[in-house]
This record gives sequence, C-alpha cells and structure tokens, in this order.
Amino acid sequence: MSGQTQLVFTVTPGSRLQGQIQVPGDKSISHRSVMFGALAEGTTEISGFLQGDDSLATLQAFRAMGVQIDGPEQGRVSVHGVGMHGLQAPSGELDLGNSGTSMRLLSGLLAGQAFDVTLTGDASLSGRPMQRVLNPLAQMGADIHSDEGGTAPLRIKSGAALKGIDYTLPMASAQVKSCLLLAGMYAEGETCVTEPAPTRDHTERMLQGFGYSIERHGAKVCLRGGGSLKACQIEVPADISSAAFFLVGASIAPGSELTLQGVGINPTRIGIIDILRLMGADIQLENERETGGEPVADIKVRSARLSGIHIPEHLVPLAIDEFPAIFIAAACAEGETVLTGAEELRVKESDRIQVMADGLQTLGIDVRPTADGIVIQGGTLQSGQVNSHGDHRIAMSFAMAALRAAGPIEIQDCANVNTSFPGFTELAAGAGLGISQA
Ligand code: S3P
Repeated sequence: MSGQTQLVFTVTPGSRLQGQIQVPGDKSISHRSVMFGALAEGTTEISGFLQGDDSLATLQAFRAMGVQIDGPEQGRVSVHGVGMHGLQAPSGELDLGNSGTSMRLLSGLLAGQAFDVTLTGDASLSGRPMQRVLNPLAQMGADIHSDEGGTAPLRIKSGAALKGIDYTLPMASAQVKSCLLLAGMYAEGETCVTEPAPTRDHTERMLQGFGYSIERHGAKVCLRGGGSLKACQIEVPADISSAAFFLVGASIAPGSELTLQGVGINPTRIGIIDILRLMGADIQLENERETGGEPVADIKVRSARLSGIHIPEHLVPLAIDEFPAIFIAAACAEGETVLTGAEELRVKESDRIQVMADGLQTLGIDVRPTADGIVIQGGTLQSGQVNSHGDHRIAMSFAMAALRAAGPIEIQDCANVNTSFPGFTELAAGAGLGISQA
C-alpha cells in the first residue's frame, strides 16, 4: 500500500540475535478487534493494536462506514461501536490493499447490510481466490458479484435476506470460517461451519468475549443470527507469526539467545514452535499467562543444530503463515525436510512454494517444489539477490537467511513488510541482524 515497491533490504551475514524484544501486535486479532468493536454497543478499548497496513485497512474501512475510531496511538485504539445495524454506506469503494483477511471477513460481515458496497485491493489481493467465500455466501442468499475467475473487486448488493447454512469447508481456512460466522450473525436461524482441520479460532474466542453465544461440537462451530455484541477491552498479544522470523533466526545463528515477550500462544497458532522443536530447536515458554481470552508467553530461543524432518500434515494449518521462515530453517538443517499437504501456500500473498523455491535455489540450496509442498536439502546458503514478489513474509524470511549465508543477501520488493511488521528492520537490527534498507 505504501507504494515504495523498490524497497530493498541488504543483510550481511555472521551476526547472532540477542536480548529481549517485543514484536508488534497480532494481525488476525487486530482485524477482528476493530470489526467486532465497530458492531458492538459501547466503546471498545484496544491496546497492542498492530499499526500495519493490513489492520489499518480494516480500521479505515470502518471509518468510511461511519464508525468513530480514535487512534491508533502507540497501539491504543478506541472504537465507538454503532451496533449491529449502525454501519452507513461508504462514499466510495473500500480499498483493502494487500489484506486477504480484511476482504474475506468483510465480505461476510457486509453481505447482510442495508447498503451496496464494493471491496477492492492491490494487484496481489485482486488475484487471490474469493470463490471460497462467494460460494457459501451465495448459498446463504448473499448477492455478491466478483470479476471473472472469482476475484476482487467484490460488489456486494444490499437487500439480501440471509439464511443460516450448515457448511463444511472444502479447505482448512480461518478466513472462510470467520466470514461465514460474521454473515451468520445477520442470517435467519443457525449458521454452522465444520472444518476439515483446526484453524485459528480468534473469531470464536472474540465473539464470546463480546458476549455473543456460540456453540462448538468437535470440528463444528455454530451461532444463531440476530444477537448483539457488547463492547469490551482487548489486549492484543504480540504476533507469533512475526515472532516466527526471530525464532528461526536465533535457531540458525550460532551463539544466539533471544527472548520474545508477550507472544500469543493460542494452540491453533503454535505449529511453528512444534515444527522447530521437531527439527531440534531450543525453544522454551516462560511466564505463561492469559490476556483477554488468549494465552500468552515469553518465548526464549537459543541457537541449536537443526535436522530435516517430514513435517506432520496436521501441523500445516497451525503454521500456515510461517512456512517461508520454516523453509529457511530447513535450508540450514542437516538432511532433508519434506512438506506435503500445504497447497494453500500457493494462494497466499504470493505463491509461497514457488517464490521461496526460486529464492533458495538462487542462494544455492537444492529444493524441489511439488504441487502441495516442497522438498528441501539442507546445505550452505550462498550470497545472492532474491525477489520477495511483494510478499512481506518472504522478505523477512530471507532477511533471517543471511545470518547463515556465505555473503550478503539482497532482497527486492520489501515495502509490504509494513503490512504486518512495521519497524521490522529497526527491531531486527537492535537484536543484532546486519540489515539496512534503501
Ligand atoms: C487468517 C487466516 C489464514 C492466514 C491469514 C490470516 C485470519 O488464512 O493465512 O494470514 O486472520 O483468519 P486462510 O484462512 O486463508 O488460511
């Protein structure tokens, strides 16, 4: 969104990561805190809000729909809720930038409103599959038009009388699950969503925190339409997806010892810890506590010798955003790492299997991308130039790779790091990474 597509990171090798740092707030929870706060009765006070482009796109969308929002000011945001039926028609299209979560969750939330609205995004978001939300929303009675191929812009028509559905997700997706639960709040009767594997459950937790009753029966989550939300206080934990780069960086850089403070360790998000531990990483959880319905801990990581593994498929949805970083760990591990069951990686902000494979090959690593995963032979990372293709997580992953490379790594197209991790270069440099940007 910032338009500096030419931003380049240059990272020099040989350093280690040390000290105590706090990464920014959780992106998934930040989005949802504004969405639910806007629809609630009363004022929701948020702290730890992620001031990244993605969550700010959600915040701006609600401002454009008439919601008064104060902040963000050092992570503090006050959302003056307008109630379930208080949103107003925006004067133009809602531009959601790079943010898939904003578009997929808002398509559900807005399907049952009394006004027309169009959702747009940048080139990456405009290429991402939306049929996965449009199909079940159409079954609920929503009237939404996409571009050919089921992509944005999404033109949502008012006046749809939504009906609850009992839907089984064809893929493990928290965005689709959340979209349907949000639409379900405006639907007649009950909406139930069954997932093929557990995915992040922040929507369910936060709905309950706002006093909306939901029921779980195993893999099925249900709610009834017509309820209301009550404003509350939300402390957003530090984002484990942002911590992931440092967990990998400190694991691969000899002599590292780093503590990441106040990180969310929701069981549906800790696949990265499980996978790195299976590879031999030295990761300890300290000071475990709970804030605002979400478990949190300080995470201590020390460098360790990593070994290649066959990543258990049940961990894939629990680490879905962390694979670019995990691939760097695999490149530095001894032996072969095999990932299967991860075809969803091909439809993220970039095709993360292909873009990571290209970059790792450029750096001299033997990799074989497959339809639903990758095979990586651990080796020695060489110096080189890689392209992140505007994917924030790929840019930050290759930045960490430099810790173990034979020479500097230059990473192109890094401006979108701001979508999820504003201040990344400063924080990483403070922990010891030899990173500069131009
Ligand atoms: C998210 C769900 C995941 C994840 C994304 C955030 C969410 O997407 O990749 O970064 O906040 O619900 P999918 O539902 O497409 O797996």
